Amino acid sequence: MQLKTIKTQFPIFKHQPRLVYLDNAATSQKPAMVINRIKDFYEKENAAVHRGIYPLSENATAEFEAVRDKVARFIGAETSKEIIFTSGTTESINLVASGWGRKNIGPEDEIVVTEMEHHANFVPWQELNSNLKFIPVDDNGQLQLDQLAKLLTKKTKLVALTYISNVLGTINPVREIINQIKRINPKCLVLVDGAQAVPHLPVNVQELGCDFLAFSAHKMLGPTGVGVLWGRAEILEAMEPVKFGGGMISRVERGRAIWASVPAKFEGGTPNIAGVIGLGAAIDFLNNVGLANICQQEAQLTAYALEKLQAIDGIVIYGSQELESCGCKCGRCQICKLECGRELKLCKNRLGIISFNIKGIHAHDVAQVLGDAGIAVRAGHHCAMPLHQQLGVPASVRMSMYLYNSREDVDLLAEGIGKVQKVLKNNQ
Ligand SMILES: Cc1ncc(COP(=O)(O)O)c(C=O)c1O
Repeated sequence: MQLKTIKTQFPIFKHQPRLVYLDNAATSQKPAMVINRIKDFYEKENAAVHRGIYPLSENATAEFEAVRDKVARFIGAETSKEIIFTSGTTESINLVASGWGRKNIGPEDEIVVTEMEHHANFVPWQELNSNLKFIPVDDNGQLQLDQLAKLLTKKTKLVALTYISNVLGTINPVREIINQIKRINPKCLVLVDGAQAVPHLPVNVQELGCDFLAFSAHKMLGPTGVGVLWGRAEILEAMEPVKFGGGMISRVERGRAIWASVPAKFEGGTPNIAGVIGLGAAIDFLNNVGLANICQQEAQLTAYALEKLQAIDGIVIYGSQELESCGCKCGRCQICKLECGRELKLCKNRLGIISFNIKGIHAHDVAQVLGDAGIAVRAGHHCAMPLHQQLGVPASVRMSMYLYNSREDVDLLAEGIGKVQKVLKNNQ
């Protein structure tokens, strides 16, 4: 699918023809295919899943469970039993923190996170009252992995890290990090926050070697209110449920209850059925375009945006600013899995996200003036306060791209920043 064709699949751009949408790290837009699938489900197929023994309910159950199989294939899971539907990345991580953490983490135990985590992959661990250690981030926005061996001890029970930073766009070398962790402490579990990675590049849990992966449907063209926790079957079997009620039990008596098997054990209550079905349509859309294609085009666009922004006077860009040629055979295609045979100019270890500040102007003012001009970017700490403390700023402006963005969007952003500087500097 060509870029222009892709954009026409998203009704929002028909209704908002001037919209330059660069807030994809917060949530993505939705293609007609996803919107229509959800509408169709409610109009023609709506029924509760798992319990009904009439055709409408049996069909809804089959559709719902087919999405579980689709998600499993999408991330290379061994079995769809390892796929738990949640409300999003935040709930997925909280489920591990409560269901696994409360049972396995004591005050003497250690958990390692990185300084670049979203609060969703930080606060749940902090709340466990364990000893929390941090892999530091250097001035170039990279994890200081030479610290890892020092940070890991026999007491380390879990490492929780993001695949791609939602502020710096840094792509962490997750597979290598996990190899190193397992070499040093084979019992240590690894949770990967895939919220910013699963929508943008091919992710295969078995190749990564992680133990948990969390991600959200709404950042990958799907609806809000749906997410996924993938976990290794044997770990999930041993984990405690955290939501109690209907659907998660196999038997209830007055004095006790016996849990259903995985994944039902973790899915108490009526799930977000239409949302899950919408996620299935989103995966179909992504598969049609191809994750490798999405990754490669976004990687080139990120490099273009970085160069464009670097040329702006008074801009401070956070994270890696190096551009490199992929030197095709192709170094980057280890990420995008595309043997394109072309030399591409790409950002070193960065995909899709660039955060910055304009000297002398508050990030919120930048975002507001850009917003008035139809350019949607995010300003604030992006739920990564510890990272902003490290960067020495309370807030930054973040532009984040996806498969419908183009060079024209980046050009309009750069122009818009020029206007912001004129308007706000003249007012000072
Ligand atoms: C890296 C990362 N982790 C976790 C989250 C939380 O995702 P959600 O709000 O969908 O639960 C986000 C959302 O921005 C994110 O960027």
